[in-house]
Amino acid sequence: MSSAIAPAALNDFGKQHVTNGLGRITEGVITKGNGSYVEYLDGKKMLDFTCGIGVTNLGHCHPKVSKAAADQCMNIVHAQCSIAFHEPYLRLIEKLLPAMPHPSLDSFFFWNSGSEAVEGAIKMARALTGRQNIISMQGAYHGRTFGAMAVTKSKTIYSDGVAPLMPGVFSIPFPFWHQHGLPPSAPDSVLTLQSLYQLDLLLSQQTSPQDTAAIIVEPVLGEGGYVPAPKEFLEGLRSICDQHGILLIADEVQSGFGRTGNWFFIEESGVKPDILLMAKGLANGFPLSGVVSRKELTDKLKPGSLGGTYAGNAVSCAAACAVADAFREENIMANVQARSRELFAFLTELKDDQTLASYILDVRGRGLMVAMEFASSEAPGAAFDPTTPKGLTVKKGMASRVAKKCIEKGMLLLTTSVYEVVRFIPPLNISQEDMKKGCDIFAQSVREVVREN
Ligand SMILES: Cc1ncc(COP(=O)(O)O)c(C=O)c1O
Repeated sequence: MSSAIAPAALNDFGKQHVTNGLGRITEGVITKGNGSYVEYLDGKKMLDFTCGIGVTNLGHCHPKVSKAAADQCMNIVHAQCSIAFHEPYLRLIEKLLPAMPHPSLDSFFFWNSGSEAVEGAIKMARALTGRQNIISMQGAYHGRTFGAMAVTKSKTIYSDGVAPLMPGVFSIPFPFWHQHGLPPSAPDSVLTLQSLYQLDLLLSQQTSPQDTAAIIVEPVLGEGGYVPAPKEFLEGLRSICDQHGILLIADEVQSGFGRTGNWFFIEESGVKPDILLMAKGLANGFPLSGVVSRKELTDKLKPGSLGGTYAGNAVSCAAACAVADAFREENIMANVQARSRELFAFLTELKDDQTLASYILDVRGRGLMVAMEFASSEAPGAAFDPTTPKGLTVKKGMASRVAKKCIEKGMLLLTTSVYEVVRFIPPLNISQEDMKKGCDIFAQSVREVVREN
């Protein structure tokens, strides 16, 4: 690439000219990615436990995926979806059909981002039911566009100062112990009852069933703290939706595509969503999202009501076909299970360590979508929460201090939620050796932060 700015000056150039609306967790310029590692312009190499926020599930630049995309680039790049079908689009559907959590999910629309998929689902739900209101979950993250932002309830930063948002949105607590003022040990059955009770009340007091188009749920609450929904809760949502003709939208943008050890987490519950959303890992880094529903429903949509210039791009679809093949050929799900067992064993041992016990509240997740939550007396609602540990003197921001230490030691790690949570989303094909390396860096970082407290 020929240019006038010296490589060493690029970071400062970025700070000068890239919008301040973007936040970043590291300084520097990434130049390369290979498997579980990324490299920076200054030569720094980092173990990537973020996967670009749950995207590069097969590692960076997986050779089969990159080759499929490169080959497609020499064939056709932009075969616009409202002009004609293109082959990678249809081949992708052929490969995804057997991975659907229910055979009724047989009608596909591909877009670019997760937020767009959420917008598409809301639009479909309103058009198909003739109703306006949408119920989402407290703690949910669905994206940054206006409809997606309206159903997002994880942090106020996403919509601070930009109201009015899309109207007609209501929310109920997710079956997450924090949201009910219960301890981490609260059983799923109790959490489920509390959340379904609130849903029942909501449908009687705030949005009547005949005005409610859809309930949107992340089967694993992502940005809200990495909390898998109990099977009973998803079953309860299904049953209430069936009772009232409300559509159930499962947003598996983050939890889908092998992340939890199944193609989609909702598979574990046996619950059938009316609309399933996917993105992120679907094309391992190429922009692609999917909105999947039943043909019987989508046949009612007016042609032209869905679309988008780049929707279902041919290069992204070709990459996604290679992702689906690689999952099957390389037995990725078995690796997820094996590495997940190691990660949980390691985190549980850390939690049980007497010198750390008062600092660690919870270890949770599924597959390789795993979180550790640290104790904090300053968490939102702590003053009113009977489960807040008494006499605790942990300094604020333990999760971000731990993540920062990990970065200093050569590993990228993200925090999540309004609580003190770090999230582990390593590549699904990570080696045993790199998993151990990541765990060692994490343990050292936690111990150092506790010592410095
Ligand atoms: C569950 C979920 N839905 C939707 C989105 C939005 O996706 P995107 O950032 O591609 O717009 C995200 C992104 O993190 C997500 O985790």
